[in-house]
Amino acid sequence: MTIHVPPASVHPSAPAPVRAGDERFEPLDAVIKRHQGKPDSLIEILNSAQVRFGFLGGELLDFVARRMRLPSSYVFGVATFYHMFSLAPKGRHTCDVCMGTTCSVKGARRLLEGLERAMGIRAGETTADGRISLQLVRCPGTCGMAPVVYYDGVAISYETTASAVKRVKGWLDDGSERAP
Ligand code: FES
Repeated sequence: MTIHVPPASVHPSAPAPVRAGDERFEPLDAVIKRHQGKPDSLIEILNSAQVRFGFLGGELLDFVARRMRLPSSYVFGVATFYHMFSLAPKGRHTCDVCMGTTCSVKGARRLLEGLERAMGIRAGETTADGRISLQLVRCPGTCGMAPVVYYDGVAISYETTASAVKRVKGWLDDGSERAP
């Protein structure tokens, strides 16, 4: 998708400094710099932010907007347009399945269906006890390790349906919090 940014939409303020104290902002800032803050890379950057933070909260969206010199309202609008982005906190744990092309070819769909069955929810939902949210993410760029699943933001490569189900069962069955 091409993102069309209106000419007067450059964020008026200087980029915000990377916040001290939350080490997740620094790698996100590196991703923004790698894309040179180009508006066309916004979806990829939001995806990267969600993988790291679990959801796209207001402060995080504002951070992205400032670093990319875009209006916060525009970034918020893009984040709300796509179903893969979550603007609210999810379950205590997050299980994010990459549905990019390579992961899909390598069995991500089958893996996702196995997770949906094991958790009794569909992608985009949270278990009734609020323990796990199952989400879809776009390719984070680690295709050489496909299929990739993130458990609370930790990437597990070459994932299989059996091992994925086993990991979330550790969260579901006895609260022993074994995953990943
Ligand atoms: S398609 Fe999944 S990591 Fe690239």
